[in-house]
Amino acid sequence: MLERETWASRVGFILAAVGSAVGLGNIWRFPYLTAESGGAAFLVVYLAAVLVIGFPAILAEFVLGRRSRRNVVDAFGDLGHPTWKAVGALALVTGFVILSYYSVVAGWVLRYIVGSATGAYFGGPEAYYSAIAVGMDAVAFHALFMLLTVTIVAFGVERGIELSTKVMVPSIILIVLGLAAWAFTLDGAAAGYAFYLEPNLGELTGNLLTVVPAAVGQALFTLSLGMGAMVTYASYVGDDHDLAVDGVSIVVLNTAVAVVAGLVVFPVLYARGIAPGEPGAGAIFVTMAGALSALPAGRIIGVVFFGVVAIAALSSAISLLEVVVSYLVDNLDYPRPVLAAAVGLAAFLVGLPTALDTDMLSTYDAVTGQLLLPLGAFLLVVFVGWIYGREAAAELGAPTGQARPHHRGWLWHLRLVIVLAVAGTLVVSAGKFAGIDVAEVVTSQASEVVAESVGL
Ligand code: PHE
Repeated sequence: MLERETWASRVGFILAAVGSAVGLGNIWRFPYLTAESGGAAFLVVYLAAVLVIGFPAILAEFVLGRRSRRNVVDAFGDLGHPTWKAVGALALVTGFVILSYYSVVAGWVLRYIVGSATGAYFGGPEAYYSAIAVGMDAVAFHALFMLLTVTIVAFGVERGIELSTKVMVPSIILIVLGLAAWAFTLDGAAAGYAFYLEPNLGELTGNLLTVVPAAVGQALFTLSLGMGAMVTYASYVGDDHDLAVDGVSIVVLNTAVAVVAGLVVFPVLYARGIAPGEPGAGAIFVTMAGALSALPAGRIIGVVFFGVVAIAALSSAISLLEVVVSYLVDNLDYPRPVLAAAVGLAAFLVGLPTALDTDMLSTYDAVTGQLLLPLGAFLLVVFVGWIYGREAAAELGAPTGQARPHHRGWLWHLRLVIVLAVAGTLVVSAGKFAGIDVAEVVTSQASEVVAESVGL
């Protein structure tokens, strides 16, 4: 077998991981969830979920990857009983399916770069969206985006992923900051900031059981957790250093991009008097395009805005593809470019239904994002926390090879807090798929208990 590839530098690993994390989740999914779940109230819960669940969970994936130096399937197999490989396989399939529709949405983004440049959507943002979201346009741009993704992954870890994310991630950060500065100058920016930044705590306490699972799910999605991307990337880390330090940089940068993206989207929407909140995968495209078309310099800003979204999507999609390619490279005797092309083609085909029907796309997104990711994250945390256990705590602080008190604290946090929180999220989500409103059931049960205990 060939010698396993590694990152050329520690910064390379950090930027690749940030590239994976920062994506459609930050600029498309996050503002849309925020809008749907009550603005600033959601922001608060989301930030808490990133801190309490996302950050410790990303470290669990890093430990699994760096210790095993294997792809996600064999990482479980090498560090645990071979049956745990099934969990790795679940992660692999989840990543593959996410890639298949992620590429369709990213294809829309590419289409909108063209649409902004030509002004094609200026006449009717809704009509434009319905024209391009499904059908031949969607299929063609889906194919184009997949081809870009395959090309980068074909070049390998160091010359493909590391090199490209070293360019992409700093560009994303600079462009998003620039856009936020521009958005600050818009009339109506203040109303946008108010919706986004002033939490309405009444709304929050009223909807806690629906807001919390959505925020936990988003914390996992945005940090690329639950499907092996961070395991795979950490498996290419060559040297021994404290992974927690890298984890902090990655989580802080990813969160900053999400928060700043909100500082772009909400002022733009309010500048046009569009209240955010219509749900649906296309909402942000229609409303952003509508708002941009009415603003001065809307075309240029449109190209820049959708351009940065496309770059962010690409640096995430390569991590999705790499999870599967890494497994095949480790196990089959074919050249990496052949394997990357084969997986890309397969993901293109599996994604086709979502390029022909947006309901299919929502189904793919819901099943993977709300069910399979939390399930994968839950099983992974159980494995690292309870099965791999104390060795995991030692691996986290590798320079000394000994678990220090904060490493042990992390382990117990995984074992108890995260296992319970993610299990809770999973129950609520599973209930939703089965048509049961768990939040409603719990609330009414609780009020019955209260009513009984006060003797009503
Ligand atoms: N984190 C990416 C985003 O926010 C999505 C993603 C999920 C990428 C899972 C890889 C794995 O868009």
